[in-house]
Amino acid sequence: MSTVKRTWILNGKSVAVRFPPGRRLLDVLREDLGLIGSKESCGEGECGACTVIVDNEPVVSCILPAGQLPDGTEILTIEGIEKKRAGRLLQQAYIEAGAVQCGFCIPGMVVSSYALLSKNPKPSVKAIREGLAGNLCRCTGYTKIIAAVKLAASRLPAPKRK
Ligand code: FES
Ligand code: FES
Repeated sequence: MSTVKRTWILNGKSVAVRFPPGRRLLDVLREDLGLIGSKESCGEGECGACTVIVDNEPVVSCILPAGQLPDGTEILTIEGIEKKRAGRLLQQAYIEAGAVQCGFCIPGMVVSSYALLSKNPKPSVKAIREGLAGNLCRCTGYTKIIAAVKLAASRLPAPKRK
């Protein structure tokens, strides 16, 4: 059987992978590389539980064929994000704001929140809602999640003025 070979920058490190054509990025991450922080819920691109950041954009990895990502693609998963300052601030803020109930959506929420704060460090409530629009939570009603992102943003340094 033919095999796809790729070398990506995964969580800041060069990683070589081989997988069958058509394999989903989520399966490469979870099953081949053991990065089980990204979750699978709907498996249809609807809930955001499997969100990772690819070349600075949040994407749902459950419907993304891994072979579509060329050599050199930069991928950031929740495992890489939680090592970064903004990622740690987000995780702490989610806990403090009481935004974690069953927790299943939370890795994807934190990934999307991180992507949002990377582009907009002081987002409005509207911008947070838009940034997290692709992530579903069946437990919390979103109010505490929005509060968590606000709290994390309040602890990040103000963006530098040019
Ligand atoms: S598991 Fe990927 S979007 Fe729901
Ligand atoms: S905390 Fe349960 S789905 Fe969000």
